[in-house]
Amino acid sequence: MSAAPRETHFGERKVRLDEKQRLVDEVFHKVADRYDLMNDLMSFGLHRVWKDILVAKLRPPRNRPFAHLDVAGGTGDVAFRVAEAGGELTEVTALDVNGEMLRVGRERAQRRRDGGHVSFIEGNAESLPLPDDAFDGYTIAFGIRNVPDIGKALAEAFRVLKRGGRFLCLEFSRADTPVLDRLYDAYSFAAIPAIGKVVTGDGRPYRYLVESIRQFPPPDLFEEMIADCGFARASFTRLSGGIVAIHSGWKL
Ligand SMILES: C[S@@+](CC[C@H](N)C(=O)[O-])C[C@H]1O[C@@H](n2cnc3c(N)ncnc32)[C@H](O)[C@@H]1O
Repeated sequence: MSAAPRETHFGERKVRLDEKQRLVDEVFHKVADRYDLMNDLMSFGLHRVWKDILVAKLRPPRNRPFAHLDVAGGTGDVAFRVAEAGGELTEVTALDVNGEMLRVGRERAQRRRDGGHVSFIEGNAESLPLPDDAFDGYTIAFGIRNVPDIGKALAEAFRVLKRGGRFLCLEFSRADTPVLDRLYDAYSFAAIPAIGKVVTGDGRPYRYLVESIRQFPPPDLFEEMIADCGFARASFTRLSGGIVAIHSGWKL
């Protein structure tokens, strides 16, 4: 008897694991050109602060070479911050499965002074086209909840990091208090798809983004998943009343 296909969530829908990536790709294909503007509108610019805090935790050194990988790097928002914080000796690879998001990222790189320190490559977080033990740092921001098999992505993160390398993940989480949680829910489900419809002409991709936040494991469970993949000192920090969390682990 053949085993039942593994299932996961695509927003509130249950889908086969091998179906999810195509659906996710369609979402980001549609939103790529308005992605950065929408991020500012949806989060009132807060995503910039969260990304700054992520990079401050990474603290790329300015006095020695630092090889960094930003997975699900999209339009390069985190990659550019790491390049700027690290300076001349930092080289950043931004990897994403979606060619459209990468195209926007490459266009941005051309307009930046430090753009030469960021390279954009197409690839899947679940099977990175990169060698073992190659990177000092790995970040993934608002990306991992879109990946069909999160365990595979974590195992790949562990594989490509050098000993002493750090894994950092910025992801939506659960608000700390029931009141904030209800307010956040109301805003997310009512306002975000509506803003998406006005700005991009289609609210559905944004409904998926909101629903997918709800399906992502709570931070303590995700912390266990990170530790189970071999990362040492797995921990997380809640930001903005728990709306997002930064998860950390070390390959020691
Ligand atoms: C919400 S965006 C985040 C982009 C960027 N990290 C940021 O914070 O602005 C999610 C990104 O994950 C990418 N993605 C989805 N599944 C992926 C996978 N399996 N491997 C790599 N990237 C993936 C999407 O193409 C999209 O660019």
